[in-house]
Amino acid sequence: MAKLLFLAGSARKESCNKKLAKFGSVLANELGADATFIDLKDYPLPIFCEDFEAENGMPENAQKLKQLFNDHDGFFIASPEYNSAYSPLLKNTLDWITRPSPEAEPKWVPFKGKIAAIAGTSPGALGGMRVLVPLRMYLGNLGVHVVPTQAAIGHGFQAFDETGRLKEDNQLPLFTSVIQELITVTTKLSA
Ligand SMILES: Cc1cc2nc3c(=O)[nH]c(=O)nc-3n(C[C@H](O)[C@H](O)[C@H](O)COP(=O)(O)O)c2cc1C
Repeated sequence: MAKLLFLAGSARKESCNKKLAKFGSVLANELGADATFIDLKDYPLPIFCEDFEAENGMPENAQKLKQLFNDHDGFFIASPEYNSAYSPLLKNTLDWITRPSPEAEPKWVPFKGKIAAIAGTSPGALGGMRVLVPLRMYLGNLGVHVVPTQAAIGHGFQAFDETGRLKEDNQLPLFTSVIQELITVTTKLSA
């Protein structure tokens, strides 16, 4: 069974990307995966600086996140779009996790060869579709296989019902195929 981690690049209480990642994990469990949602609010980290790292080593929360990524075959990221790019929270978090510890460890251990799917949502009509290009590139450069199907869901503040499910007319079929593809590819490649 595919073991998948779901997260969003926003720590905001009412984040629509958190809603998307959380719903993605519910959907993945319904589709037969073993999916876990995590909230980056629970893993605060300092802004990455090599001087800080040299003096203090890897913060406990970065170690916990790294372990979580190590323990999963694949992951899903719902990314906010900030000025056409991903949020500083997401970049900072992933950068911390890329750091080797112990130092002799090969590069990008939690990412290399993993499967991922990406999507985003924003209050605007385009759903933050521009962020998916740099995010796909960033993950690809870490050795992650990002599945081709992706989704940008517009009008994100109205896209979910009161139970947290994506509404039918807010690209539910496309989003379902993103999650299904993540499960299928992860299952095949980790067999
Ligand atoms: C610095 C900043 C830049 C933003 N740039 C964009 C943008 O380029 N495209 C977009 O659709 N929304 C943009 N927004 C609006 C976000 O999509 C909106 O704040 C959204 O709710 C953030 O995601 P969240 O709800 O998951 O926290 C921006 C917001 C901020 C704070």
